[in-house]
Amino acid sequence: MVERKVVSIVGAGNVGEHVASLLLLKGLVDVRLFDIPRKTEDKVFEPVKGKALDMKQMIAAMDIDSKVDGFTVSPEGDGYEPIVNSDIVVITAGFPRKPGMSREDLLESNINILSTIISKVRQYSPDSILIVVTNPVDIMTYAAYKLSGFAPNRVIGMAGVLDSARFKTFIAEELRVSPKDIHAYVIGGHGDEMVPLISISNVGGIPLKDLIPKEKLQELIERTRFGGGEIVNLMGTSAYYAPAAAVVDMVEALVTNSRRILPCSVYLDGEAGEYYGVKGFCVGVPIKLGSNGVEEIIKVPMIEEERQMWNKSVESVKKSVEIAEVFLGG
Ligand code: APR
Repeated sequence: MVERKVVSIVGAGNVGEHVASLLLLKGLVDVRLFDIPRKTEDKVFEPVKGKALDMKQMIAAMDIDSKVDGFTVSPEGDGYEPIVNSDIVVITAGFPRKPGMSREDLLESNINILSTIISKVRQYSPDSILIVVTNPVDIMTYAAYKLSGFAPNRVIGMAGVLDSARFKTFIAEELRVSPKDIHAYVIGGHGDEMVPLISISNVGGIPLKDLIPKEKLQELIERTRFGGGEIVNLMGTSAYYAPAAAVVDMVEALVTNSRRILPCSVYLDGEAGEYYGVKGFCVGVPIKLGSNGVEEIIKVPMIEEERQMWNKSVESVKKSVEIAEVFLGG
């Protein structure tokens, strides 16, 4: 029997279930799913158990022997015992954006949900690494850091990998080149003021700014910034294939100790915080991801224009953090 690391996913909605199925298809880890029941007038459904059973049969059909199980929990925090000894806990639980809603609109309700989940993770998996997906992600990552009391290297928000994948998609289409040969990092807050780092982005080693005219590049940047909104407007709810894939990329780096450099939302303070002009909250920066979580915060060079965009993005995250502090009782 193969011993695999355990990834628990709290919130088996669109993003959570796709994270689970992608992880299982890679055969890399065992998966435990947690979600609340769905009540109709005359019946209580337990979709999380159904999804796990369906996935169990999916991997059997594909000759994959990872384990997957689903557990129904209550919003008050009952039923979390099976989360015990998880290596990684992915949190997607919460309410997604509806058309016209900003990520900040979700703040209060999602912090309340997070607070219950974190108290259970602390109780049953105090040594786990947290990956936060719930929006507004920079704020929720900060809240998870505060509520868990975990060291900052063990609390990581998923945003930059997704934003960078979106940017890469648009560049690949524009240049008719494989996304594999594109290095493009999007950092900053996961909002409309995210910062694509053009000065260090390249395709096959050639600087991006030499390949795409300025105006066109600006168009791609704008499309990346509103990449989430574009999908919300088409589907009526937020994206899940690419967000799930971004989480899987992060999980893979953690469980294989690959030390990949991926942009993620992390707690910035001390020397790295000083470099980035952030004191004591979470924003997206390139980090080295390995088995300890954040192995290193990369101090990426920025040209003046990017530094200005960065400062603006940080300022807007900071404002939301101040609002969140009220709900966090700080
Ligand atoms: N405990 C556990 N699970 C919960 C709770 C709770 N208290 N409250 C809600 N959930 C579950 C829901 O039942 C649902 O299955 O969280 C899941 C969220 O899934 P979706 O509504 O499908 O949302 P999704 O598209 O997966 O997005 C999840 O990721 O990208 C972000 O903005 C997005 O914050 C959102 C999160």
